[in-house]
Amino acid sequence: MIRTTGLTRHFVGKKETVEAVRGISLDIGDGELVALLGPNGAGKSTTLRMLTTLLPPTSGTATVAGFDTTTDPEEVRRRIGYVGQGTGGGANQFVLDELLCQGRCYGLGRRDSATRAAELVEVLDLGAVTGRKVSTLSGGQKRRLDIALGLVHRPGLLFLDEPSTGMDPQNRANLWEHILRLREQLGTTIVLTTHYLEEADSMAERVIVIDHGTVIADDTSAALKADLAGDMITMRLADPAQVDQAVRLPGWLTAAVEVDGPTVIVRTADGDVVLPRLLRHLDSVGVQVRSVDLARPTLDDVFLALTGRSLRETGAAAA
Ligand SMILES: Nc1ncnc2c1ncn2[C@@H]1O[C@H](COP(=O)(O)OP(=O)(O)O)[C@@H](O)[C@H]1O
Ligand SMILES: [Mg+2]
Repeated sequence: MIRTTGLTRHFVGKKETVEAVRGISLDIGDGELVALLGPNGAGKSTTLRMLTTLLPPTSGTATVAGFDTTTDPEEVRRRIGYVGQGTGGGANQFVLDELLCQGRCYGLGRRDSATRAAELVEVLDLGAVTGRKVSTLSGGQKRRLDIALGLVHRPGLLFLDEPSTGMDPQNRANLWEHILRLREQLGTTIVLTTHYLEEADSMAERVIVIDHGTVIADDTSAALKADLAGDMITMRLADPAQVDQAVRLPGWLTAAVEVDGPTVIVRTADGDVVLPRLLRHLDSVGVQVRSVDLARPTLDDVFLALTGRSLRETGAAAA
């Protein structure tokens, strides 16, 4: 569905040149649900704007839905839906008119536009607001309308730029339910950007971490966490004198060990499997463990391991 090679975009200003995207190469298959995760300013929107033909790349190439974004932009646009970071509906227009108009703009007949609008109103739960002006909608309703507008022409490929930013948790959960249902029903390929760790974690099958305009990791969330952060087993010993014995790991276990007073921290993959075996081992050598805690890593631990910075602390997560 998407293939890019060395996709690059510089913004040349009077005082400085911003290297927003610095050579991104991607391969995204039919039907994938991919999240581009990164802090504010990482280059996510710029990447999406190049993929949707809104912005020409400085260098590199992108093929989207089988067509080159630079030489065949119209063919690309015919096949994609794009929901940008800002709202798309005209403030003084009525919700239903916006949907019908969008359908007609994409070449749907009068009747087909009406059917399609009705379908999307149903799917995106907009029934209560079809007769209202866009300016009177709540943030969540506006966002749902944006997504409906992006889907009117049944694109096989949908780009969503920070779809749930500014929504309350309930609205966000609803939106996600809608998006996942659409995908189930229509098999849509979805590429979204987010700076919400939880969103990337729970929704996307594949997470592409972007920082300073480059891809720094690309895998399933589970694999990223297992490879980069590992699980953390924290054990408090009953007798601090037994710490020396506790840190002598059994031969079957490869792990990093830290000691903090009577507390022994073991970092390893597959912590859930390791933990009971490790406790049996310690028991057999006479080490008494008073309490134990298993922490699975988050995508923020992954980002920290990759960049030395916390994504939560870049200010993005608070936005
Ligand atoms: N039109 C523009 N002119 C100049 N700089 C821009 C423009 N658009 C984006 N940038 C800069 O490019 C970088 C990446 O921006 P963007 O792609 O919007 O990041 P993200 O969507 O990940 O927050 C930022 O430093 C931003 O200020
Ligand atoms: Mg952005």
